[in-house]
Amino acid sequence: MQAAQKPANSDSRASERSVDDLVARARRLEAADRGEAGRLYMQALQRDPANLTAHNALERLEDPKRYGAWMRINGTIHPEDDIFRFIAREPAYTLNPVRDYLSDGWRTLSETMQVLELLDRPLMKMSSVLEFASGYGRFTRHLARALPGRVTCSDVLPGSTEFVREQFGVEAFESCFDPATLEFPERYDLVFVLSLFTHLPVPVWDAWLRALGGAVKPGGVLLFSVHSEALAREELGVKLNDEGYCYLPHSESPSLDPEHYGTTLTTRRLVEDRVRAALGAEPALYQPGAFWVGQDAVAVIPDDPAQETC
Ligand SMILES: C[S@@+](CC[C@H](N)C(=O)[O-])C[C@H]1O[C@@H](n2cnc3c(N)ncnc32)[C@H](O)[C@@H]1O
Repeated sequence: MQAAQKPANSDSRASERSVDDLVARARRLEAADRGEAGRLYMQALQRDPANLTAHNALERLEDPKRYGAWMRINGTIHPEDDIFRFIAREPAYTLNPVRDYLSDGWRTLSETMQVLELLDRPLMKMSSVLEFASGYGRFTRHLARALPGRVTCSDVLPGSTEFVREQFGVEAFESCFDPATLEFPERYDLVFVLSLFTHLPVPVWDAWLRALGGAVKPGGVLLFSVHSEALAREELGVKLNDEGYCYLPHSESPSLDPEHYGTTLTTRRLVEDRVRAALGAEPALYQPGAFWVGQDAVAVIPDDPAQETC
């Protein structure tokens, strides 16, 4: 006898329904039986590892099996976080996007510490840090744990500053697209900018470098990342123009206008020239491949204009 034909995708629809059912049942149980609610959310997350409703509920309920307990951080992930979405759809990750996203921030902490060690400016000695272009806090949660009360964040994404303030207890202010109008609440020992210049059109770099350099305390450090030249030429096969860059009008973030925020590939020479032109200083450190796969670290100790003599 022939088995009854199942409609296409009926299995996946059934399993999707069951994840939704698990989440709905867990939500109803939260007040009456927190432990059972946690167990159901965990089942939902095991079936659908990118399910942020289940993951965030485990964090909110302080379930003992939540990722935040393992990493000793707040593991809540904003549902609009484009970096999480990128990780969740990227074939190199995908098996466990929540763990990959959280450990990716941990990796950034380790990479940042290594670069600052090379400069003899240990992160743990910084009395104030501005994490500029902090997004929805992929790295912030780890930084805030290392330096409680010493971190300020800034970004343009809607709701991102409120989110990092509420979730990670940092100070935060909204950024804008015109660096000339941006007011920084104070100056910082370290201004850290991971993967913003990798997206900004080169013609606006000088203005951004001047603004961010001006937010550094006398003797402090501006640390930012750029795409490695080798990534552009060898891995992506991108042709750089005569000035030494290529700007592609797309990025991981569909919510940002590709005219202001795309993908920027540059030569090392262009980066060093822009630092000299904008800040009148040589990079104190240029460390190839310091961040992620294919981003170089550039550190500058800007001159203090107040110290200039005639
Ligand atoms: C590739 S993401 C990196 C986010 C974060 N630094 C991290 O490592 O997870 C770049 C970030 O730059 C932010 N950004 C873009 N334009 C900005 C601006 N004018 N001011 C501040 N942040 C900006 C984006 O919203 C996005 O969050």
